[in-house]
Amino acid sequence: MDRVDIYKSLAAHTNEKGKFFKYLRTLPIDVVGDLMLNVPEHHEDLRRILPRMAPDEIQRNWNGSSGYDLLLQSCAFMRTLECGVNRFSGRSLDNAKILDFGCGWGRLLRLLYKFTAPENIYGCDPWDQSLQICADCGITGNLAQSDYLPENLPFPGMKFDFIYAYSVFTHLSEKAALAAVSACRKHIADDGLLIITVRPKSYWEVHPDSQNHLVVKSQMIKDHERKGFAFTPHGVGTPAQVNGEITYGDSSMTLDYIKDHWREWQVVGTEHFLQDPYQMLVFLKPK
Ligand SMILES: C[S@@+](CC[C@H](N)C(=O)[O-])C[C@H]1O[C@@H](n2cnc3c(N)ncnc32)[C@H](O)[C@@H]1O
Repeated sequence: MDRVDIYKSLAAHTNEKGKFFKYLRTLPIDVVGDLMLNVPEHHEDLRRILPRMAPDEIQRNWNGSSGYDLLLQSCAFMRTLECGVNRFSGRSLDNAKILDFGCGWGRLLRLLYKFTAPENIYGCDPWDQSLQICADCGITGNLAQSDYLPENLPFPGMKFDFIYAYSVFTHLSEKAALAAVSACRKHIADDGLLIITVRPKSYWEVHPDSQNHLVVKSQMIKDHERKGFAFTPHGVGTPAQVNGEITYGDSSMTLDYIKDHWREWQVVGTEHFLQDPYQMLVFLKPK
């Protein structure tokens, strides 16, 4: 990959935003990700259109790593998502209307530029700080604040072809997870898919003690085995505490749990990627 040439040919398309993003979609996903990581200072034209990365500290706080390491994981996820969408729906991410549910600082939203026009890209997150960082980074797309226990999504009347949530259901309480899938169900196209990531039981062996002093690992493993769902909340007093109940923490769940409890959805497949073995992708079709 010759970055200098790619930046030059991209710069030749900056006159018109629509054409610029159309050209971006002709590039491979890893190239799209790579070129957004460090747009050279002298390319003011590109820096005006492409989003800036969030500071490393924010990337680490939201995702546990930053920079190139995180980008490799992000691109691997998008390729796995694309592959599963093709396999399990027979459809493509290309030109689709896509929602990033729990979009954080917009790490994956910007990679959607590879697949679809900015007007088809949607993101929501209940934490106002997430949306503020997306705005500060200059993400082009449709962003709105959702609820921690949503009844609906903040996009009235909208049906999405695909909704994905990376590293979101790995953190939600049972109640928040059910509210989230029920809200997403109201906004999915009949032939669409919801794609979430969940943690396996083995996650509890690597769960950092520093993350949460309330957790008793052996209890989490027992809950996972008996109920199919284990959850330990993060500290009190965060915005994710709704009516005294903490909706955010660390969780794991089984496919049987999903089949038994989320009755409006059907599990149609799963995927894995080795860059993060504790995030299994689950593909869900609306019933
Ligand atoms: C670990 S971060 C992942 C962010 C993003 N999906 C990514 O992969 O970069 C988890 C995100 O979930 C959001 N979140 C917390 N509670 C949520 C809920 N009930 N519904 C949707 N998102 C939620 C947080 O604000 C945060 O941005």
